[in-house]
Amino acid sequence: MTAATPLGKDLLGLEPLSGEQITLILDTAEPFKEISERAIKKVPTLRGSTVVNLFFENSTRTRVSFEFAEKRLSADTVNVAASASSVSKGETLVDTARNLEAMRIDMVVMRHPSSGAAAFLAERIESNVINAGDGTHEHPTQGLLDLLTLRDHFNKIEGLRVCICGDVLHSRVARSNIWGLRKLGAEVAVCGPRSLLPSAIDEMGVTVFSRIEDAIEWSDALNVLRLQLERMTSGYIPSLREYNRYFGVTRERLERAPRDVLILHPGPMNRGVEIDSDVADGPHSVILPQVTNGVAVRMAVLYLLSGGRPEMAEAAKTGKSGGAA
Ligand code: CP
Repeated sequence: MTAATPLGKDLLGLEPLSGEQITLILDTAEPFKEISERAIKKVPTLRGSTVVNLFFENSTRTRVSFEFAEKRLSADTVNVAASASSVSKGETLVDTARNLEAMRIDMVVMRHPSSGAAAFLAERIESNVINAGDGTHEHPTQGLLDLLTLRDHFNKIEGLRVCICGDVLHSRVARSNIWGLRKLGAEVAVCGPRSLLPSAIDEMGVTVFSRIEDAIEWSDALNVLRLQLERMTSGYIPSLREYNRYFGVTRERLERAPRDVLILHPGPMNRGVEIDSDVADGPHSVILPQVTNGVAVRMAVLYLLSGGRPEMAEAAKTGKSGGAA
């Protein structure tokens, strides 16, 4: 565990970070992008560090992306799925983590269905904790990779108009995006049926659109969210077909926009529901570049929380100097 890092001990969300800290992570990710393009995708920066990926919910992108990021930095990694661990026998989260710590680990990357679980754990263990998504609270590395992808495309974040469309109510991605985008000076909007927007949305400093056509007309970029049917305890929308008809991001709707609108989606997508295939696979989609950027952003977070110096990230790639403490 390294406490004196530019980010503090843990990465729990984007809400507690300053705009400068968020920019620092994005800038640190830049030199790490190139490592994934090499034939041998590995540098010795985190050699000797041990990272546990503790996933209590399903994940494709985040879990694999963290594992690639850890391995490309030469950390030792262990994946623990809750269903295959002693959690299924009644062991508590803190006991599980403390037992892992007894085997001398350095960091825990955790996804958990409960909002606040990452903060709860971070207060109780010495290892650095990285939140890989906690309930409906935050998914900070997703927010960061979305910001990096927007910055790659527009060369700036400040002044951009970004609308988050869909099931904002259940979305930790939406919250991390709102915090991150606002801290970097973007204008943020949300669009969806009122039943899928948080009741406190008006206090989050965002514009609210109830018609997708108005949202598209306003936006430079749309971040399209899936309907999280697994988190819906009652009927929030009449039917998926009706949702697509009124809120779906379709080619026809985008063609009526006054400008090209960049399309982001954190995945997994429900094609034909919140987004049509010809948009997801179309010329303005950066959905796969988002996934690529996820590895670099996670490498940057691992590097910084390990005590790596941001100004040495370029040198750290070579392994000659600037490695994490
Ligand atoms: N974007 C995201 O969190 O995807 P996974 O659930 O596959 O990790």
